[in-house]
Amino acid sequence: MVKEDKEEKEEKKGSEASENKITDVPGIGPGIAAKLEAAGIYDLMGLAVMSPSALSDMAGVGEAVARKAIQAARGMMKLGFMDGMEFAKRREDVGYITCGSVALNNLLGGKGVETRSMTEAYGAFGSGKTQLALTLAVNVQLPKEQGGINGKAVYIDTEGTFRPARIRQIAEGMGANADKVLKNILVARAFNSDHQILLLDKINELMKDGEPIKLVIIDSLTAHFRAEFSGRGQLADRQQKLNRYLHDLMKLAEQRNLAIYVTNQVMANPAMMFGDPTTAIGGNIVGHASTYRIYLRRGKQGSRVAKLIDSPNLPENEAQFWVTEKGVRDEEE
Ligand code: GTP
Ligand code: MG
Repeated sequence: MVKEDKEEKEEKKGSEASENKITDVPGIGPGIAAKLEAAGIYDLMGLAVMSPSALSDMAGVGEAVARKAIQAARGMMKLGFMDGMEFAKRREDVGYITCGSVALNNLLGGKGVETRSMTEAYGAFGSGKTQLALTLAVNVQLPKEQGGINGKAVYIDTEGTFRPARIRQIAEGMGANADKVLKNILVARAFNSDHQILLLDKINELMKDGEPIKLVIIDSLTAHFRAEFSGRGQLADRQQKLNRYLHDLMKLAEQRNLAIYVTNQVMANPAMMFGDPTTAIGGNIVGHASTYRIYLRRGKQGSRVAKLIDSPNLPENEAQFWVTEKGVRDEEE
């Protein structure tokens, strides 16, 4: 009896905590809340991960007030350390999207691309980066039992390579209604790196309007950055801008519990004398931001080979797969 009471109380406490609004934070009135919303910050998490100077600029308040508000938001969210049980519980709501190939899923830990993470595929042209992106954009829509999350995909296309006809082909190959599948993929062409960055705010807006986005694809992550910052001495600026963007991407993945899949080109690395002399664009900055990083290349008999690079918790393995009419698969057609 006593125990039940206690449990009930705790449950209440939990649900109250999750209902806290941004205006419950001391110092954040409706006026400031509106300004924050306009900047894409809708909830306590958004506020809690801000820097005092950014909040001060955005809300037009002093830094001391901003710092207090952020600290209060963090307190209300209980950010910081959590015990193992809490951590496990948080991991429970991670969703997975099948790649269409069991071998590739296994390479990534068993179930494919996961939410709250960023998966990066880099490799030469024609290695299958875009084909995997298109396959994931269809598969995220599947119900959980079939390897999806019942969600929509956002496709940020920087190179104009998104092909609706190819989506149709993949969808029909799976016996799905191609029109419905296409409707669940929100495509935007990013014309330059600033536009590409701006589109992240748009995703926040869409989600606020109730769009169940579970996958964000950026194909390619680095092409605009590479083209725009090509001069001598511009590398540091490029890396700084890219770093900030990656940080915002991870924040989006974490706050919205969605998966991020990005593609990346390679360049020749003349310093490497053995093995495959290619390195990903963006170097360590992209590498550190990616939770899972796979290197794609052409394999034997028209197959593709994916290699997992530098994963903190998985062995450095390889997987063989095929690009077929139905998208990414374990076997040739
Ligand atoms: P870049 O964007 O140029 O850097 O390359 P990428 O890695 O994105 O290449 P992509 O994923 O577009 O792979 C293109 C390759 O996929 C083609 O060369 C084909 O081998 C294969 N492919 C594309 N569509 C089909 C298809 O309908 N059937 C089959 N069997 N293969 C396809
Ligand atoms: Mg491509």
